[in-house]
Amino acid sequence: MNSWVRILVHVALLFPVLVDSAVRQYTFDVVMKNTTRLCSSKPIVTVNGQFPGPTLYAREDDTVLVKVVNHVNYNLSIHWHGIRQLRTGWADGPAYITQCPIQTGQSYVYNFTITGQRGTLLWHAHILWLRSTVHGAIVIFPKRGVPYPFPKPDDEVVVVLGEWWKSDTEAVINEALKSGLAPNVSDAHTINGHPGPISNCPSQGGFTLPVENGKTYMLRLINAALNEELFFKIAGHELTVVEVDATYVKPFKTDTILIAPGQTTNVLVSADQKSGIYMVAASPFMDSPIAVDNLTATATLHYSGTLANTGTTLTTPPPQNATPIANNFVNSLRSLNSKKYPALVPQTIDHNLFFTVGLGINPCPTCKAGNGSRAVAAMNNVTFVMPTTALLQAHFFNISGVFTTDFPGNPPHVFNYTGTPPSSLQTTNGTKVFRLAYNTTVQLVLQDTSILAPENHPIHLHGFNFFAIGRGLGNYNPKTDPRNFNLVDPVERNTIGVPAGGWVAIRFRADNPGVWFMHCHLEIHTTWGLKMAFLVDNGKGPNQSLLPPPIAQFGRPPDLVVAVPAINGSMVSAPVVITQAGFLDDNMDTDAETVV
Ligand code: C2O
Repeated sequence: MNSWVRILVHVALLFPVLVDSAVRQYTFDVVMKNTTRLCSSKPIVTVNGQFPGPTLYAREDDTVLVKVVNHVNYNLSIHWHGIRQLRTGWADGPAYITQCPIQTGQSYVYNFTITGQRGTLLWHAHILWLRSTVHGAIVIFPKRGVPYPFPKPDDEVVVVLGEWWKSDTEAVINEALKSGLAPNVSDAHTINGHPGPISNCPSQGGFTLPVENGKTYMLRLINAALNEELFFKIAGHELTVVEVDATYVKPFKTDTILIAPGQTTNVLVSADQKSGIYMVAASPFMDSPIAVDNLTATATLHYSGTLANTGTTLTTPPPQNATPIANNFVNSLRSLNSKKYPALVPQTIDHNLFFTVGLGINPCPTCKAGNGSRAVAAMNNVTFVMPTTALLQAHFFNISGVFTTDFPGNPPHVFNYTGTPPSSLQTTNGTKVFRLAYNTTVQLVLQDTSILAPENHPIHLHGFNFFAIGRGLGNYNPKTDPRNFNLVDPVERNTIGVPAGGWVAIRFRADNPGVWFMHCHLEIHTTWGLKMAFLVDNGKGPNQSLLPPPIAQFGRPPDLVVAVPAINGSMVSAPVVITQAGFLDDNMDTDAETVV
């Protein structure tokens, strides 16, 4: 090596700040942790003993290596929800879709590069109901020197919304599956892991966010709940929405956010009220006759210099069925669509797909409580059956008999989807995927059905962002509804609510080869089968193929040295930064970056 090169290498290692991207290594130890909420304790599955789990910090263009070590008695896998995973489907995480789950005592290294994304996302377990406690934030800072497209906040805070069950969540879902009926709802909602004081447990504290008068804060909101969409508001304070699902939006002001499981929302809030304590509230949104946990989780905004005996300024959460408030929020979302962050909406479509989403009833001789039948869920009347070999593995190694490619592009029976349900509510079972050629464009209309009950379904697509070009109530009309599509600045996201008794239309480009799960992010509906997958073929170009799987998955002990070069076949030259999960190392400091 020539000495100048050697010096440069040394400089790069000593001052990682000088280079544009880094390799960030994290270790996630999955361990049981006895935890007390609602004045009662239970052991829960956690990452590194934390609930919510540690925040994964990275910067756009960084390569992230997370070694997940499983020390618990469940097999599990972790999904990096919303990360595009360009050509790295092996690191996506849904169990039996892109990998076999990590067995007790084993580990797996997730290796991916963050490309073209910045903002807030979440990670969570993607098997059984383990994500109820195994979840945390992903914070992606813009590239070094690139400012936010809005005034830089004085500080940033991750706010994870969730649910808490007093019982073991695996017992909750297992019991429901045995009976054929719906599972119990949670016992409380949480804000950063805490429900706040409630009548059955008035002594428990809630999350406190300290603020200083005159400063502006960016809240990185995440809904990590299993089964409930939530409203979020702060007494006396307006929120300016600037980003959803790690894409920038045209900023708008609102006093109430609607956020579905799997969605993320960044808001700016200015501490512009008089000193005091202000209530922060997270409460359920449900506009159909379906049981939800109706407790409001509370936290507080605490101004510095507030006198000790000051009372809390309260706020009233929206009514549970406040459809107009929900619609108002959803209809305000627009892509930023600036020169720097254009909305690349596909203007022509190769595949025009129409999927119904909803529930059904299938026979179940052993389901006593359900009178011999059980609730199921389906897309285009197909209830997805989980394979025992991962779909991506079957695809890559040409293993036959794992899945079929006949997922229907249209409903097998046409009926009045939002009117009187058909006489048979039975679905068909299958492990079916829909196959797409590389780089084809897809328009997909997701139509809710009124079978059992109309309901809002937050549908999540792995491996892509999509544009939400249209939305309406009742049955989608392919003749008239497209006239109102927004093909200019529709919001871009990875999880979208299909309104109860209505439809949404989305568009995306199949530019990511692999197998990509799509499912309702209400965990009960996923469990019941409201899921399918797209299989995207390799393209012909040089960087258009799915990369080979990490060697570690096939017998060799997983180790980071093996994993590093896999990204593009050559050694990654960026400095390796071992980041302690949940902490921002100095290389990630965002000061000095805002120029706006
Ligand atoms: Cu956040 Cu497949 O899920």
